[in-house]
Amino acid sequence: MEAGLQVLQAVTAGKNVHYNLSEYPFGGAGIDQSGEPFPASTKAGVLAADAVLLSAIGGPKWDQATIRPETGLLQLRKTLGVFANLRPTVVNPALIERSPLKAQIVADTNFLMVRELTSGAYFGEPRRLTQQDALDTIYYSRQEIERVMKVGFQLAQTRKQHVTIVDKSNVLATSKLWRQVAHEQVAQFPNVTVDDCYVDAMAMNLLSQPNQFDVIITPNLFGDILSDEAAELTGSIGTIPSVSLGKGQRALYEPIHGSAPDIAGKGIANPFSMINTIALLLKHTFHRPELATKIDGALTRTIESGVVTPDLGGSAITTEVTQTVIHNLEGGA
Ligand code: IPM
Ligand code: MN
Repeated sequence: MEAGLQVLQAVTAGKNVHYNLSEYPFGGAGIDQSGEPFPASTKAGVLAADAVLLSAIGGPKWDQATIRPETGLLQLRKTLGVFANLRPTVVNPALIERSPLKAQIVADTNFLMVRELTSGAYFGEPRRLTQQDALDTIYYSRQEIERVMKVGFQLAQTRKQHVTIVDKSNVLATSKLWRQVAHEQVAQFPNVTVDDCYVDAMAMNLLSQPNQFDVIITPNLFGDILSDEAAELTGSIGTIPSVSLGKGQRALYEPIHGSAPDIAGKGIANPFSMINTIALLLKHTFHRPELATKIDGALTRTIESGVVTPDLGGSAITTEVTQTVIHNLEGGA
């Protein structure tokens, strides 16, 4: 978060960008302060904001908490009504050797995963956990599917005009409706081509032909799983940002990685994911795409100069990487 805010400040300096920043405790910090991951004051704060920027939220310290940090995250997403979670996966040519896959397979990979975020298996009722049995429910209404499809198809129009629908419609009722509603969109978006893919095959295709995809629209749980797989294609999960959008202008920005307890306190967390998240913030909330492009350029120059954290094979620490990115903002677009 610190790295991200420093870059935000540097890239907006003297650029006629004005914003007010308020900080609120959340997740583990919320539990420490008030016993709850999503305290009432934080709720009031986020509802009054145009955008919410969230860093990672949990850790072993709170795994046994009555209300876990993750529960707070789900409440936050629901409270903000941000049903469309956008997770772009771009393989940077300068990092291609870091990918666990062969360079010729991941080359030119640039897709956008659109994950439904406020329904499905994460929120379906009833749910139950006893020592004898356990129950979760997957539920989707037509309206919940339609609105996320619309976001995905609209974004496809600004990209390569192709959508891949992910589901398990050979087994699940919710997936049958998912696929049907997806195909109904074609009437409104005639220039967008659509294909379908079962989620198991999708797990395979992301490894065998990741550069064939443009926009991928997936239900909540499948998108959670596939976006971690997708992130790994780029060489590290520490690179991928996300933005979640709802009906109005309000948006939630968060890196897709977790709190990485294994390296906590070592000062070596990869700031790229948060810095990329700042770029999304500048694009979607500030409507200043040229500043986002500036960050993209600075990140690429930083990678090319080899100043990267250990997860990407480097030996730089977080603050060094951040300072280098800020320095590289000067170097042109
Ligand atoms: C994510 C995370 C969350 C999710 C967890 C922390 C609840 O894995 O944002 O992908 O499953 O949505
Ligand atoms: Mn996840």
